[in-house]
Amino acid sequence: MNLCMIGTGYVGLVSGVCFADLGNKVYCLDKNKEKIKILKSGKSPIYEPGLDELIKKNYSVGRLIFTTDLNKAISKSELIFICVGTPTKKKSQNVDLSFVYNAVKEVAKSTKKRKLIITKSTVPVGTGDELDQILKKLKSNNIDVISNPEFLREGEAIRDFRFPDRIVVGSDKKKYFKVMKKIYQPLLNKGAKFFTTSRRGAELIKYASNAFLATKITFINELANLCEQTNIDIGDIALGMGSDTRIGGRFLRAGPAYGGSCFPKDTKGLVSTGNKFKTDLTIVKSVIKSNENRKKIHTQKIKKILGSCKNKKIAFLGVTFKPNTDDMRDSTSLKMIPHLSKLGAKIKYYDPTGEKNEFKHLKNCIFEKNIKENCKDADLIILHTEWDEFKSIDFKKINKNKRLKIFDLRNLFNVNEMKSRKIEYYSIGRQSFK
Ligand code: UDX
Repeated sequence: MNLCMIGTGYVGLVSGVCFADLGNKVYCLDKNKEKIKILKSGKSPIYEPGLDELIKKNYSVGRLIFTTDLNKAISKSELIFICVGTPTKKKSQNVDLSFVYNAVKEVAKSTKKRKLIITKSTVPVGTGDELDQILKKLKSNNIDVISNPEFLREGEAIRDFRFPDRIVVGSDKKKYFKVMKKIYQPLLNKGAKFFTTSRRGAELIKYASNAFLATKITFINELANLCEQTNIDIGDIALGMGSDTRIGGRFLRAGPAYGGSCFPKDTKGLVSTGNKFKTDLTIVKSVIKSNENRKKIHTQKIKKILGSCKNKKIAFLGVTFKPNTDDMRDSTSLKMIPHLSKLGAKIKYYDPTGEKNEFKHLKNCIFEKNIKENCKDADLIILHTEWDEFKSIDFKKINKNKRLKIFDLRNLFNVNEMKSRKIEYYSIGRQSFK
């Protein structure tokens, strides 16, 4: 089929390229001329492992068309996916739907033909109803709106598209389930569940899923705090809990705090939906508060570990919100590094995805191009992001400081091994921080 993805960000580009790889002809549409130019050169403007190869493969056989020409893309496509951003409004903390509204208005103005608009962007409950109103006002009676949320993790997005646990389609007109089942059939043949519900149901499933995952992570993070006061290993708790199939072992890894472009945005988005429909979502509110507060806990621990931070050399290994992405959105490092800089520490950082604009304005924070240069004269090494290349570092080899301390925010290393190597090692939920 001919599909159009409006928006070529993390969701639109990955979904478009993967749909093309399933044999569809996909028009990837974006207003950003620079982005389209990069895509036409066969490159991905975003860091997503494996995406460049898929773009080249499908672009070379004409299954992918990158364009800024909305009229052409819409006229050629039967299904139109809305994949534009839905950021959080700074002041109200509500979801900014302006890009979604504009995209739908432009589609309505560009055609009178029968089209199906599919919202893949994460949109609050009731957005489909609002889009119906917009279309009605524009006398666009031939365009319907359904919901098909995505569940792609950055860094694993291609795998998550190809092997989804479930495809969720929300529509109040059952006739649309057939065409959606058709485009996802190759994935259903490999075992993915095809789940249909109302349009509002699909909109809420997305927020509910992300908010629950954020809750699960925050739960284990708070238990990690308890473990530090009771000398229990949080890894044992995660295993002991996770072996219960009703709980499940995934997303029970204690860490710095959740970050990224989704959990922070979607937990706030769900609370604002609750407010709109006069329902107090107290658990999600407490998750947001707990996660935000957690970032301060780490700098307090660092002050305990170092005594004073003034003039101390601190080396960060990784600064992105998770490995296999260059995304810095809501990364814990964005709070920790400026705070430590204010306390007078001399900070270095290395990240496989390179130097970050977010830290360029800090006077005592520099980017080092490799692990050794970054760590060699540190007083404290902070393992912030669990990139594979950090997993076998021999700290004694790269740093001769007898009083070297390590703070492992991802529990990548083994407590006993560090003890036997006489390295002063701190981690999350595995030893006392009294
Ligand atoms: C998330 C959802 O997983 C995905 O389904 C949705 O479509 C988009 O949002 P993403 O934000 O890309 O994906 O990353 P994810 O792997 O979920 O991690 C989010 C944050 O939680 C990261 O900061 C990660 O470090 C943290 N995390 C994750 C933990 O701290 N512990 C865990 O066990 C898992």
